[in-house]
Amino acid sequence: MLEVRGLETSYGDSQVLFGMDLDVGAGEVATLIGRNGMGKTTTVRSIMGIVRPHGGRIMFDGVGIQGNPSYRVAQAGIGLVPEGRQIFPNLSVRENLVATAKARDGDGENWTFDKVMDLFPALSARLDSAGNQLSGGEQQMLAVGRALMTNPKLLVLDEATEGLAPLIRQEIWTCLAGLKAAHQSILVIDKNIDALTRIADRHHIVEKGRVVWTGDSAALRADPTLQERYLGV
Ligand SMILES: Nc1ncnc2c1ncn2[C@@H]1O[C@H](COP(=O)(O)OP(=O)(O)OP(=O)(O)O)[C@@H](O)[C@H]1O
Ligand SMILES: [Mg+2]
Repeated sequence: MLEVRGLETSYGDSQVLFGMDLDVGAGEVATLIGRNGMGKTTTVRSIMGIVRPHGGRIMFDGVGIQGNPSYRVAQAGIGLVPEGRQIFPNLSVRENLVATAKARDGDGENWTFDKVMDLFPALSARLDSAGNQLSGGEQQMLAVGRALMTNPKLLVLDEATEGLAPLIRQEIWTCLAGLKAAHQSILVIDKNIDALTRIADRHHIVEKGRVVWTGDSAALRADPTLQERYLGV
């Protein structure tokens, strides 16, 4: 579904991605893992058209999308839950959810406002509150709900559990497990390797702007030196 090959991205003179490769198959949960500053968010920003890569290619559903503006990447079916959540602070919860909503192309069940309320009941009590009045956990649920309401073929989550209380984190993981069971394709970036190995089919370890290891959860768990070497745990 998503195939990234040889992606190179720089901020000014400073190159951050040096040939990133990654794959997410249909219905698969894939991860990008690695220490701080290795280029995970830059990879996501390159895929989404927020920064412009100067090398490599990005194929989504068989079509090259590198260089496309963000709104076209979203229209093509990639939904982002960005690092730091970035919900609309001055819009209400309801407005945040409907602002970018769109129905699924073709067949398949649609995420609707009501379904997002069922998924995150805590939000239904806050519908008229502004985004910036919400707790961190509520903001994160809103960011996930907003992305789901674009009915993405691929959902991308960048550090969705960062800075949340353990119970709220668990709620996000439970939500992702439910989405996976419904065959949603997901690319997830997170620091919690235990939780990732429970849910993901394929991992990519990122070191200095390229992938240095890929494998499934069993392979990742089986090699503790990987975690020492690349994940600093
Ligand atoms: N807007 C920017 N301008 C210049 N340099 C940047 C910018 N954003 C990120 N960088 C640099 O690019 C490198 C990769 O950053 P990136 O945010 O992609 O890493 P990351 O793997 O997502 O890290 P983290 O785990 O902390 O989120 C870092 O050295 C960072 O300082
Ligand atoms: Mg990041």
